[in-house]
Amino acid sequence: MGGSPSFPIVPIAKDRIFIVTGANTGIGYEIAKWSAMMGATVILACRSEERARKAMETMQEEFKTEKEKGTTGLTDSPTLAIEFMKLDLASFQSVVEFCEEFKKSGRQLHVLCCNAGLGANSYKQTSDGLEIMLQVNYLSHFIIIAKLLSIMRRSGPDCRIVLTSSGFHKGGTFDLTTMNYTGNARSFPDLNYYGRSKLYQVMQAFAMSRRFKDSNVAVNSMHPGFVDSEFFRDVTGIAKCCFACFRTCGAMKNTLEGATCGIDLATNPKHAGVSGHYWVNCKITTPSSTSRDEQKQEMLWKETFPFIQKYLTEEEIADMEGKSPNRL
Ligand SMILES: NC(=O)c1ccc[n+]([C@@H]2O[C@H](COP(=O)([O-])OP(=O)(O)OC[C@H]3O[C@@H](n4cnc5c(N)ncnc54)[C@H](OP(=O)(O)O)[C@@H]3O)[C@@H](O)[C@H]2O)c1
Repeated sequence: MGGSPSFPIVPIAKDRIFIVTGANTGIGYEIAKWSAMMGATVILACRSEERARKAMETMQEEFKTEKEKGTTGLTDSPTLAIEFMKLDLASFQSVVEFCEEFKKSGRQLHVLCCNAGLGANSYKQTSDGLEIMLQVNYLSHFIIIAKLLSIMRRSGPDCRIVLTSSGFHKGGTFDLTTMNYTGNARSFPDLNYYGRSKLYQVMQAFAMSRRFKDSNVAVNSMHPGFVDSEFFRDVTGIAKCCFACFRTCGAMKNTLEGATCGIDLATNPKHAGVSGHYWVNCKITTPSSTSRDEQKQEMLWKETFPFIQKYLTEEEIADMEGKSPNRL
């Protein structure tokens, strides 16, 4: 996995705590590995312990190789400070348990990378009765942010939330009456619903950043590019052949190239306090006009809560609105 990095390798204190969702493979793997190689303590929040532990072993091996290569700026520590925590974003119960366990640890939280995601798939409903991409890509990450925000607020300066969205947010329809697909599974417009979930993330970053203005928590979303990860693992037929061609002709980024923007947003000191932007190739970029529409962002915000509010306390909701009495 990977190649040569094109982001600055900066020293990060070990007591800076990162959470990366979906860190066992693909873009999340590289974000977690490079953040840890710079010195951070990184929690891999993954649904499969087995896959996460394998990934952690590979990360340690790749760290050794990187040191042997003489890459400068890596942590002096002999091993990476990486840990596994169980998180299945397709289950609100798992999301709540993950947050409770993290809270119980009494740790600070400095960087939260909401990266895990599912692509255009045939229709699947979660045990919570929701279309899976809506829940995994958007709603569950929303709950994690709401539940851990108070910890981030108390974790000192320069805390960051990075949402891995997609340029494909432009392909998602903004229709809040059909946020949760309830039609016929066979006519499920999978790409459109993938685009919707990614559109919500871009809008969520804008809406949150407005609410967290003048606080220590910055929120940004980004598009990693067209990346040769496991994202397309379930693709079959003609689409599979197309991907083989894209790979062969170099149209896809490798996972490290795809992770570069996320790593940069999570670690580069020059981004401290920079909030409320959509990034592509490490540059602030203009997303779709729908995503930038403040009125629509607020409509989305309002329509999101009925899906998730029973998992949040009044304090957490107030905190998200920037109204908590405990806000620093
Ligand atoms: N690849 C691209 O071209 C591309 C383009 C634009 C945006 N993105 C976005 O980039 C992000 C990362 O994708 P990737 O390309 O790195 O794909 P990937 O290689 O498939 O990795 C996705 C990660 O998400 C995890 N995940 C999926 N469902 C989950 C669940 N229910 N609970 C917890 N974790 C779950 C996967 O875990 P398992 O390994 O257990 O399945 C995996 O760790 C996604 O949000 C995606 O939308 C990707």
